[in-house]
Amino acid sequence: MKKLWGGRFTKTAEEWIDSFGASISFDQELVMEDIEGSLAHVKMLGACGIISKEEEEVIKGGLSSLKAKAEKGELSFSVDYEDIHLNLEKLLIDEIGPVGGKLHTARSRNDQVATDMHLYLRNQVEEIIMTIEEFQKTLIGVAEKHVETIVPGYTHLQRAQPISLGHHFMAYFWMLERDKERLVDSLKRINLSPLGAGALAGTTFPIDRHMTAELLGFDGIYENSLDAVSDRDFIAEFLNHSSILMMHLSRFSEEIILWSSQEYRFIELDDTFSTGSSIMPQKKNPDMAELIRGKTGRVYGNAIGLMTLLKGLPLAYNKDMQEDKEGMFDTVTTVKGSLKIFNGMLATMKVNTSVMKEAVYQDFSNATELADYLAAKGIPFREAHEIVGKLVLHCIQQGCYLLDLPLAVLKEASPLIEDDIYEALKPEEAVRRRNSAGGTGFTQVSAAIEKARELIK
Ligand code: ARG
Repeated sequence: MKKLWGGRFTKTAEEWIDSFGASISFDQELVMEDIEGSLAHVKMLGACGIISKEEEEVIKGGLSSLKAKAEKGELSFSVDYEDIHLNLEKLLIDEIGPVGGKLHTARSRNDQVATDMHLYLRNQVEEIIMTIEEFQKTLIGVAEKHVETIVPGYTHLQRAQPISLGHHFMAYFWMLERDKERLVDSLKRINLSPLGAGALAGTTFPIDRHMTAELLGFDGIYENSLDAVSDRDFIAEFLNHSSILMMHLSRFSEEIILWSSQEYRFIELDDTFSTGSSIMPQKKNPDMAELIRGKTGRVYGNAIGLMTLLKGLPLAYNKDMQEDKEGMFDTVTTVKGSLKIFNGMLATMKVNTSVMKEAVYQDFSNATELADYLAAKGIPFREAHEIVGKLVLHCIQQGCYLLDLPLAVLKEASPLIEDDIYEALKPEEAVRRRNSAGGTGFTQVSAAIEKARELIK
């Protein structure tokens, strides 16, 4: 099979060698972007007088017909033409004859592939940003329902202080807000045009890079042709931002998994987001949350894969760079899928508010309340801490909790303790009174929800 670039070759490679070098099996994902880029390029070639108006029209017609076929899934690609760029060029020539060969004037596959990737990632990142917002809306909705639901707050996975469940959910809202901000910011760098950089050095033809950039909706052009064809920072950024996003989803998954266990029973996942066991009939497994936690690993892998791929490459294009694609496609699919699944899982899960409430009454997570109570009456906090620590020990020995202690016992520990302590030790009070900015107090949580709603409307 004669290659489109076969002029200086006398021998052809065997098929197994060709197929090792080919990227068509995966870069056909870029078919629409490649056609879009070519359409802009050919319009510019015509406008700059590099090809005639008639040739421009014929090539545009051919590209439009390829586009229509691509939309219907009617294009078939072959390993013989290596990648999406050469496959489309071959199909174009088949469609309109030798004039199709003029499309590649003043262009190289190096600036072409970079252009495709920028277009692809811009579209995908915009979609991911919208998907994050959908998820954030669900988080706000669930948080709003549970502003006054009390749940143990943990440090070291030990019960620490009671908190509002809404506050807990909103913590993830703000993580996702930062994830979204990072992606929005990265669009500045993704949405730049490398087209017209040629193979590496620019071109002798009188092209107009600003025209193609504008036609493709880019905000500007790469300033340096070598940089334009060899930069993959924009993908590295995306993969690393995605890793942080997945890390957040994975932590949240871990909590969903713990909370739905028999040991916690805080939530129950909807049947549609759970699976059974093939051997144990009683099982209902949180598979979707486990998968999101698991898929986080491959997203990290894709990020580190690209960073490693790039670290030793001299300027400008190197064939190694063909390996930048599958990890990017995989991360896009994984991030979009994980966000959508998590959204559905969260929207449909049942919250066992009574189990949560029971939990906060059966622990020592109100111990800080007692220490704060004494500190507010003038006892140095360190001494108050000691007094309460002893009371907790006393309770453990007696098999009871702080609220069960008679006033006499409390007074023995400190005469400053009055009858009002029983109100202060209630978990609801503990939460209500944590009214510092960003704290778990009900008014703070409601205000945060308001602010969040403003942000994403
Ligand atoms: N399939 C190639 C890639 O994805 C396209 C660029 C090829 N350029 C070249 N000079 N061989 O990287």
